[in-house]
Amino acid sequence: MRPRRITTHKIQAMKARGERIPMVTAYDYTQAQIVEAASIPMILVGDSLGNVVLGFDSTIPVTVEDMIRHSAAVVRGAETPLVVVDMPFMSYQVDAETALRNAGRLLQEGGAQAVKLEGGKPVAPIIRRLTDAGVAVMGHIGLTPQSVHKLGGYRVQGKTDRSADELIEDALALQEAGAFAIVLELIPAELAAEITERLDIPTIGIGAGPDTDGQVQVLYDMLGLGLGFKPKHAGNYASLGETARDALERYAEDVKLGEFPTAAQSFHLDRQPAKSEETPSLSGPYGSRD
Ligand code: KIV
Repeated sequence: MRPRRITTHKIQAMKARGERIPMVTAYDYTQAQIVEAASIPMILVGDSLGNVVLGFDSTIPVTVEDMIRHSAAVVRGAETPLVVVDMPFMSYQVDAETALRNAGRLLQEGGAQAVKLEGGKPVAPIIRRLTDAGVAVMGHIGLTPQSVHKLGGYRVQGKTDRSADELIEDALALQEAGAFAIVLELIPAELAAEITERLDIPTIGIGAGPDTDGQVQVLYDMLGLGLGFKPKHAGNYASLGETARDALERYAEDVKLGEFPTAAQSFHLDRQPAKSEETPSLSGPYGSRD
């Protein structure tokens, strides 16, 4: 029997029980399998794939088609976690009907269980339209990367009393509009704690201190998969980029020295007396390669 997928209600029940909610991004089938094996209950197919997978300098060029492709791969890789997929830039801002059509595609073609979109009070009517139509929506306030040019860079938000008050109002408006949870990105820890306290729905922090109901991180940052900049809030769990570079350097050296492959990685002809002219068959994990 298929394992049962975690629901938005289960995620909300975790807040009610005071149980912290781990979440991480994943962008492909293999990453999703690893995240599921680590018993993480919620995966974000983030539009951060624009940065870490596609090499853009922002999330702005990411399309609905990109998100559908990666979401479907993640859903194939993980059967248990709740999969939330980002609505990319301009897929929901124009009007509520366009937002609904695109959210529908992300759920139907991408196979995700929920969508996430960025913004405060101005997007509340869009969230209301989606939730009324039966779409589970996660909000996202604080640093909203799709607005990087308006915000003037990737900076901490809500540091003044006025902007902190605005973020509290934004969070309450998203909850009122039917969001099942809200990401709080790059805001002061004290403000994140206050928002978490005032909301009934879970808050999921990234660079928002320890007092949110859950935490989300970009997988590449958390695992140290890149060789360059790593945000301070990502923690120090692994340096897989360096591990991979070392392995590749050893591989390249072995190839140059003729030390790879050895007999152990090679295939050989059958040495039985030939009854007929049979063609040797080579097969591996990716199927027959005759
Ligand atoms: O796209 C993403 O990875 C995100 C996280 C930063 C929350 O939205």
